Amino acid sequence: MKVTRLASGKDKKAAAALMAASDPWRALGLGPAHCLATFSVPFRETYMIKEGGALAGLVTITMYGTFRGYIQSLFTAPGFRGRGLGEALMRFAEKKIFARSPNVFLCVSSFNKGALRFYRRLGYKKAGVLKDFFRKGSDEILMRKTLGPLRDFAPRRN
Ligand SMILES: CC(C)(COP(=O)(O)OP(=O)(O)OC[C@H]1O[C@@H](n2cnc3c(N)ncnc32)[C@H](O)[C@@H]1OP(=O)(O)O)[C@@H](O)C(=O)NCCC(=O)NCCS
Repeated sequence: MKVTRLASGKDKKAAAALMAASDPWRALGLGPAHCLATFSVPFRETYMIKEGGALAGLVTITMYGTFRGYIQSLFTAPGFRGRGLGEALMRFAEKKIFARSPNVFLCVSSFNKGALRFYRRLGYKKAGVLKDFFRKGSDEILMRKTLGPLRDFAPRRN
């Protein structure tokens, strides 16, 4: 599976439309404009997998501040789910992040039980609960995978 940077305006628009049509973004009322804007925030990097010319999945990471190594979004297009793309994107993101920081953080909506299971299977542990974060009645679960304390971490030089 080839992972490349999401860079062109056309790919960004296609990705935003797919995400906005899918839960959890749809359930949270986050439309295409919101999804599109998330790709252009400073210190963010988005990587994608394309299959047969179509956008099959993407992962966006933020590398800034104490919570650098934050996975902003992970998405596999509906027709491509359950084939290992999500896991491949997570492994790719973890490799990038762990070269620069000992922590990977992410949030998952409390109603997104499938994704919670998926992240637990990849070794993520619950680090906290953000009550009523996007909207009342829906919490975000903060999860973390760590190599150890910040002070013991030596970034990889390359
Ligand atoms: C969560 C998600 C990224 C997993 O991607 P994927 O390519 O299907 O992942 P993989 O094939 O590597 O692994 C499949 C696992 O994901 C789980 N999963 C979670 N949500 C799923 C969904 N909507 N459809 C299929 N599988 C899903 C499956 O249960 C499966 O776990 P299992 O092997 O224990 O049964 C994908 O389902 C998705 O994009 N969902 C919508 C967006 C989302 O919820 N993103 C994460 C929260 S920000």
